[in-house]
Amino acid sequence: MGWLRAASFDDLKEGGVIGVDVAGTAVALYLLDGVVYATHNICTHQFAFLSEGYVEDGCIECPLHQGQFDIRTGKAQCAPVTGRLATYQVKREGDDIFVDLE
Ligand code: FES
Repeated sequence: MGWLRAASFDDLKEGGVIGVDVAGTAVALYLLDGVVYATHNICTHQFAFLSEGYVEDGCIECPLHQGQFDIRTGKAQCAPVTGRLATYQVKREGDDIFVDLE
């Protein structure tokens, strides 16, 4: 699919997360130290939107059972999550944020 527009940079707040739909895929976008990161937005444990969780120390905490993933790598950090979270490449062109879902 290549690069797909996901959001405007202005939609993001430093240290925050938003959920967006990109061509039918639930994607979470984060802004950490001025850099945008993207992961899948559904927890790998059960069904919960990570964008409804909390960002802390570079990790996203799931709102359902408080499992955590490293936002930059998708690596599961603590129980009950064990499965890695998909991460996506991100690029910014002006105010537009693009993600590559492949
Ligand atoms: Fe995310 Fe259980 S659904 S930790």
